[in-house]
Amino acid sequence: MKTDAQPAQPQTELMRWYRTHGRDLPWRHTFDPYRILVSETMLQQTQVDRVIPFYERFLAHFPDERALAVATTDAIHRAWKGLGYPSRVERLQAACRQVIAGGGAWPATPEGLRELPGIGPYTSGAVACFAFGARVPIVDTNVARVYARRDALPLPLDRAAIWPHVAPQVDAVDPIAYNNALMDLGALVCTARKPDCDRCPWSHRCRSRGSADVHTATANPLRVASPKVAYGVAITDRTKPRHHVVLALIHHQDRYLVARRPATAHLGGFWELPGGKRDRGEDDRSALARELAEELGAELLAARALVRFSHAYEDRYLTFHCYRCRLFDPEAVKPLVSEELRWVTPQEFVALRFPPANQPLVERMRRYHRLG
Ligand code: ADE
Repeated sequence: MKTDAQPAQPQTELMRWYRTHGRDLPWRHTFDPYRILVSETMLQQTQVDRVIPFYERFLAHFPDERALAVATTDAIHRAWKGLGYPSRVERLQAACRQVIAGGGAWPATPEGLRELPGIGPYTSGAVACFAFGARVPIVDTNVARVYARRDALPLPLDRAAIWPHVAPQVDAVDPIAYNNALMDLGALVCTARKPDCDRCPWSHRCRSRGSADVHTATANPLRVASPKVAYGVAITDRTKPRHHVVLALIHHQDRYLVARRPATAHLGGFWELPGGKRDRGEDDRSALARELAEELGAELLAARALVRFSHAYEDRYLTFHCYRCRLFDPEAVKPLVSEELRWVTPQEFVALRFPPANQPLVERMRRYHRLG
């Protein structure tokens, strides 16, 4: 007897879409944990299209973990040159050295991979899945956006809170394809700015379909984590008021955006980062988004906690919360409150005159970019 067709499972719908629309990326042709880790490390702060040629060139120089483990610091930096954020390649080498020192076998679980230097929760999950087929969720901003929209999750999302929501949904038979498919759906269809709901395999299950306001609110739904390290003065006088200031270290094509304070203002002529005082009841991300709209006419795309430091003035403490930020349209920034805006290289950045309160940030940039 003929029965009615069962409705398709969400996993089936997604993976059917992936088979025709998924991206053919070089790291999807390997299960080698070293090669997967190289790709994930490069992808941490760099877009897919830019990573591809670097990935292939890097592997031509260092085809396996042993080759990278024995390479000189100069050689690894030369091979990484142009990708930016060079501390990444040192972390990658440190992980390879630990694997080699332990006999050459890579841990196959997220927990085991977390024991390696420089491997955090996201990367350990990605390597465990893509190299070893572990059935674990991989949640980056793109993936979080898909779930936030489809299931109308409350915002902002905590990475820790979204994990139990998505873990049971990872396809049991082919977790690799499922996780790749989700990344592609977020990158190609359920995009931050202009989701193409008509092309989405999940549009009939999506609780945000067609709602422009929800699309904007969910563009980058993950809560930004606060940094662990604090620099600058310790807060000792509890009677002095303390204010919180958010700062945006905006990057675009290996340059940072800096603004010059108007000559007539307090600390006139000094350079600074866009940002300002966080209002009462405001979270850091909302404060950043508001300040960037007011000061640059710009829309915040992504913010990641970078550094926190405090400074004592006569009458108050300021605690600065600095985030690495990307904008939707970096080339359209306008100096709405500053005298001048400039995109500068890291070398130029550390040579500029910043207010004394910002010195911990300048020091941090100097160290990060190895500028002596
Ligand atoms: N971003 C981070 N990891 C990725 C991957 N494996 N494929 C595509 N984009 C990514």
